Amino acid sequence: MSDVSLPSPSEARTAAVIPAAGRGVRLGPGAPKALRALNGTPMLIHAVRAMAASRAVSLVVVVAPPDGTAEVKTLLDAHALPERTDFVVVPGGDSRQESVKYGLDALPPGFDIVLVHDAARPLVPVDTVDAVIEAVRDGAPAVVPAVPLADTVKEVEPAALAGQSEPVVATPERARLRAVQTPQGFDRATLLRAHESVTEDVTDDASMVEQLGVPVVVVPGHEEAFKVTRPLDLVLAEAVLARRRLNDGF
Ligand code: CTP
Ligand code: MG
Repeated sequence: MSDVSLPSPSEARTAAVIPAAGRGVRLGPGAPKALRALNGTPMLIHAVRAMAASRAVSLVVVVAPPDGTAEVKTLLDAHALPERTDFVVVPGGDSRQESVKYGLDALPPGFDIVLVHDAARPLVPVDTVDAVIEAVRDGAPAVVPAVPLADTVKEVEPAALAGQSEPVVATPERARLRAVQTPQGFDRATLLRAHESVTEDVTDDASMVEQLGVPVVVVPGHEEAFKVTRPLDLVLAEAVLARRRLNDGF
């Protein structure tokens, strides 16, 4: 994406909130997921750099594990980050939704566009970040990056006990399905309204906006924006970093 359509730093009014307060239960025992290293650098630092790589982003709010705010501040100080970007660290909550809310509560006035980006998606390319911001700038109140699915998806009646067979209820047409990633981008007022009025558990921010009846649009996501969830994802993430390093070398 060319720089022409992006604002100069003085006009930038986009903030990114990074929920990073999860434990990473599915990754197995160890430090909170966002603090685990990928090729020697904490996942959170990769995610912060991915947001700060966009020239439009002038503030990053990191929502840290509640017992890890001091450690996160130390990490941010210890790693090279763009000088044009400001950083704020706040403690997170018991759910992702609550953590995002605490991040939004810490946003100063003047940021009209807000990105919400999982620390667990450390490798999202800057072009994807810019495409999301661009779509919000163009007037969409809520924007999600998404990719088509490789697997066919079945809706089932979930079993009461693990290991039991599960009856299939339906098979949605795969061509109409998308796997949704982050950063998700919002008009700030819309996102605040969603977080104030939706109380049931959701797994992303856009679905709260959908519940308000406000339209949400999809822009192309990227395969490198995958979420580090299970141990195999760590292997994939380090392979992506190794490939980038190789490509940078030539
Ligand atoms: N998150 C958060 N606060 C929580 C739970 C999750 O800020 N109470 C964040 C995670 O740190 C992560 C993002 O939300 O960056 C997406 O959540 P997920 O991938 O589910 O991470 P975890 O909840 O840490 O992992 P798990 O569900 O396996 O425990
Ligand atoms: Mg989780």
